[in-house]
Amino acid sequence: MNPAKFSSPGGPSPSSASLPKVTMPALSEMKRQGKPICALTAYDYATARLADEAGVDFILVGDSLAMVVLGHENTLAVTVDEMLHHTRAVRRAVRRALVVADMPFGSYHGTVAEGVANAVRFMKEAGAEAVKIEGPRVELVRALADAEIPVAGHLGLTPQSVHRMGGYRVQARSVEAMRRLEADAQALAEAGAGAIVLEGIPREAAARITAALPVPTIGIGAGPDCDGQILVFHDLVNLTFAPAAKFVRRYADAGAVFRSAIERYREDVEHRAFPSDAESYHLPGEARAALASDLDGEDAPVNRDAWEGWSSEPTVQ
Ligand code: KIV
Repeated sequence: MNPAKFSSPGGPSPSSASLPKVTMPALSEMKRQGKPICALTAYDYATARLADEAGVDFILVGDSLAMVVLGHENTLAVTVDEMLHHTRAVRRAVRRALVVADMPFGSYHGTVAEGVANAVRFMKEAGAEAVKIEGPRVELVRALADAEIPVAGHLGLTPQSVHRMGGYRVQARSVEAMRRLEADAQALAEAGAGAIVLEGIPREAAARITAALPVPTIGIGAGPDCDGQILVFHDLVNLTFAPAAKFVRRYADAGAVFRSAIERYREDVEHRAFPSDAESYHLPGEARAALASDLDGEDAPVNRDAWEGWSSEPTVQ
């Protein structure tokens, strides 16, 4: 398939192509101007292109792909090489949005130098424009900023800590825990984080952090007071095969649309209703005539009546 033919002629819609490229500093400017930041995950060319053309500002190649694309039970198994592969596909699709690569579990949990080296791979080998790391890793954020790597933090419910947290639980539910979270967010911002994802925390905590920080907060399950919102693409369009979390709003039922399309296709194949003659390639006129004279006197292997209306098709479309 030719990607250039993928969407409507003319390429990206004006909402994406004609707007200036989103950068990490531009997100802080949006915060200053009170403009909500729209973020979404994408893991492949098709969905990234749709998100970019729809005007999403921040496209995260989330390690959630371990679950929603690769079928793992949690995000821990996905590797740097797998994340690089998906980041490259997203990078090819996106013209306007900021492309942020999620660093997977294990890729920044050793030394700071290892974390920086892996982050460099995302920028160099996959074209990421920023990376995201989970937890209050202030030293690493400072080292990434020093290495000219824009970085987003991620606090609250951090899925890579699922075993330490004892499950996917809302975090910062006491005043003391809230204060710790506020201090972590402040420390990450001071160390150079350009944005902070806040996941699975009370609205009150997210509102306080958002008001206190100079850099934008991007919430998921953190209420409406964050500077931006992010959702997992597969949650948004119901491709997750599981009940949605409280914070998810389903904007479409792609699961139902795809299921019905696949079932109808299978039925058509089983009933020989697909493909039709109009969906088939045909010999050009001269070859058809030559074949017809060759076959004169033989039992025709095909129904010649159906040749009526055949045309020559020089290229595959
Ligand atoms: O991996 C991911 O999709 C994420 C979002 C939930 C923020 O980290």
